Amino acid sequence: MVELPRTAGGGPVVDLRSDTVTRPTPAMRAAMAAAEVGDDVFGDDPTVVALEAEVAALFGHEAALFAPSGTMTNQIALQLVVPRGGELLTGGDGHVVTYELGGAAVLGGISTRTWPAVGAELDVARIAEMIRPKGFPSLPTSAIAVEQTHNLGGGGVVSVDALRGLRAAADEAGIAVHCDGARIWHAHVADGVPLDEYGSLFDTLSVCLSKGLGAPVGSLVVGSAERIAQARVVRKRMGGGMRQVGILAAAGLHAVRHHITRLAEDHARAHRLAVALEPLGVVDPAAVRTNLVPLDLTKAALDAPALAAAAAEQGVLMAAMLPRRARLVTHLDVDDAALDRAIEVLTGLLRAR
Ligand SMILES: Cc1ncc(COP(=O)(O)O)c(C=O)c1O
Repeated sequence: MVELPRTAGGGPVVDLRSDTVTRPTPAMRAAMAAAEVGDDVFGDDPTVVALEAEVAALFGHEAALFAPSGTMTNQIALQLVVPRGGELLTGGDGHVVTYELGGAAVLGGISTRTWPAVGAELDVARIAEMIRPKGFPSLPTSAIAVEQTHNLGGGGVVSVDALRGLRAAADEAGIAVHCDGARIWHAHVADGVPLDEYGSLFDTLSVCLSKGLGAPVGSLVVGSAERIAQARVVRKRMGGGMRQVGILAAAGLHAVRHHITRLAEDHARAHRLAVALEPLGVVDPAAVRTNLVPLDLTKAALDAPALAAAAAEQGVLMAAMLPRRARLVTHLDVDDAALDRAIEVLTGLLRAR
């Protein structure tokens, strides 16, 4: 395990706030140091070109574009599939309408309409009914966005059958489907669905290298060659054109080559954590499919900020998502010993009060 920061008392910090907190491994740092680079705005960076080609191929698409963040790749993709003034349908608990600070409206001039928050449990018939067709005085729907895995849905995996149904409904209506696949790797490992099968179900995907795969930075928009050519223009307009960025692309290449299958270890640890906390009535292990462990603290003595503060004092960091909802996330920098420590601290706190 990479050496982690220590508490004031000298104990190690176990950081379960997010899988974005990972530090590059020594092998990843070596790949970064050795990367061939060029000016990527001129298309001259061979490592970026290689990463884009490799990720596009993984999803069975023609092209991909490297950008600094998952928020930027989502927002670029939305601008590709929805014209200004057009409508996007998505879940009320989706990242694109919860954590991207109105980006669809502000940057893309996009009007969003949401189905009720259901996490990873898509109700395809209901979504299909919400699609507004062209030819009426109402604003027609241009695209649907889904999230895989679902962040506020506790890392739940949208079933491939539901996604196939959604694709069919979108095809019938002649509209596009975007996937916020920040953690699509986790879905692939949990359900065994090939990445190119997921790719075949979406017009555009946003995939992240820094959530669970251990890269320090980076996301890609994936799609057709025509859409990615357009994406390059939108990225530049949004200030996302980068120069000798092969140093970061090398980390991304290392991540996709070496850190996908090992996600099964993170999923197993998340499950072990959920099983250990189940007797305290805060989590259902059956609902923990990937590396996110949502805690429902409605009946607990401590609310989420109080539990997070008390755990932090003992070196265990967690995210308070809502007053009574917290989240624990396993990742590359959490080994079995760190998990044992987290279980000890959290069971102690949840039992004591
Ligand atoms: C589902 C999902 N989509 C998009 C993002 C945005 O990624 P970034 O933080 O790189 O902008 C996140 C971030 O955690 C996420 O969980």
